[in-house]
Amino acid sequence: MKTLTVFGTRPEAIKMAPLVHKLNSDSDIDSVLCITAQHREMLDQVLDLFKLRADYDLDIMKANQTIGQITAGVVRGLEGVIEKEDPDIVLVHGDTTTTFAAALAAFYHQKKIGHVEAGLRTGNKYSPYPEEMNRAMVGRLADLHFAPTKSNELNLLREGVLPENVFVTGNTVIDALKWVVAEPYEFDDEALANVDFGRKRVITVTCHRRENLGENMENIFSALKDITSAFEDVEIVYPVHLNPKVKETADRVLRGVDRVHLIAPLAYQPFANLMAKSHFIITDSGGMQEEAPALGKPVLVVRKETERPEAIEAGTVKLAGTNREGIYRMAEALLTDGNEYNSMAKAVNPYGDGLASERIVDILKKKSQLP
Ligand code: UD1
Ligand code: UDP
Repeated sequence: MKTLTVFGTRPEAIKMAPLVHKLNSDSDIDSVLCITAQHREMLDQVLDLFKLRADYDLDIMKANQTIGQITAGVVRGLEGVIEKEDPDIVLVHGDTTTTFAAALAAFYHQKKIGHVEAGLRTGNKYSPYPEEMNRAMVGRLADLHFAPTKSNELNLLREGVLPENVFVTGNTVIDALKWVVAEPYEFDDEALANVDFGRKRVITVTCHRRENLGENMENIFSALKDITSAFEDVEIVYPVHLNPKVKETADRVLRGVDRVHLIAPLAYQPFANLMAKSHFIITDSGGMQEEAPALGKPVLVVRKETERPEAIEAGTVKLAGTNREGIYRMAEALLTDGNEYNSMAKAVNPYGDGLASERIVDILKKKSQLP
């Protein structure tokens, strides 16, 4: 069986790396990797860490490009790759524009599509934007759906996907997390040298979603300022996403604020260790809502809704919205109320056991024997 795996952004790379390793090491599988490089530096950091070498690099990233430009670049770039490689199945991950455009290109070539991290839904077309519809549209195009959880599977069945094509595998993010946490790592990054992990309570922050750009992001960052000015024993570490719109707002609102460390994106291994050393996390990231519960770290999600309800049900994650006062109040509760903190700071594993990639490869092999 020949597989063509396509991804292009940091989170896709983190979550597909363990699967690509499993595909590469299986002697029955000819595994080809194509990166779109929708992200560049943030993607290369992950490829280096997991020692992945791409067979094709579409190299499409341009500063501040539009979703339409990304879509066109990926569809056009993949045409030659699919024609040359003639894979039995194209594997895509999650909900980015690379994911949707790669699935579309595979469909145009009448190639089978395997969707990893399938079935997550908010039901709101514009939140997360454009991810909700990217993921739903890939759900229509895909032949095999690898759903992380039972509730993701139910979402797909409700939309009419046939049960024999949906597989609950767990999320490969846990495979990746186990990988980086298992390797010995001396936590002494230069970027974090000035952070006082010993005497201060560290809050790790990330924020990048398109629906938060502008006013929401200003509110979120202002709430961070309120938190550090009210709590002298708090330090905030924020590796700022390379999106120029995010960097501009972070620089304007937070640069120079006492005990706020704005740093460059960290490689996944130091970042996972940073999360593990933090008191809690404030983020709009999807992947971190899955990682933090496994690390037993409370998460305030600065969004109005989430396609990942499992960690909320488990108690580790709370939706904090995007209102300055609302975010501050929820952080204040975690910083002053021990019961509130302890009720959230428990390690749970709603997203898997670290064996998702193995399951996906087994399913692919079984399915490839069918007519
Ligand atoms: C993209 C995905 C989003 C995903 C996120 C993960 C889309 C539309 N968005 O959002 O679903 O959650 O990645 O981070 O698919 N940039 C760099 N270097 C990098 C990466 C980005 O300079 O390594 C800058 C570029 O100017 C780029 C801009 O950031 O144009 C935005 O990148 P883009 O991939 O369009 O959107 P993200 O907000 O990163
Ligand atoms: N991450 C990282 N370095 C950082 C910030 C985040 O490696 O400086 C990891 C994080 O642990 C998670 C993923 O990147 O696995 C999240 O990526 P992002 O926030 O870009 O996308 P999303 O999760 O929202 O899709």
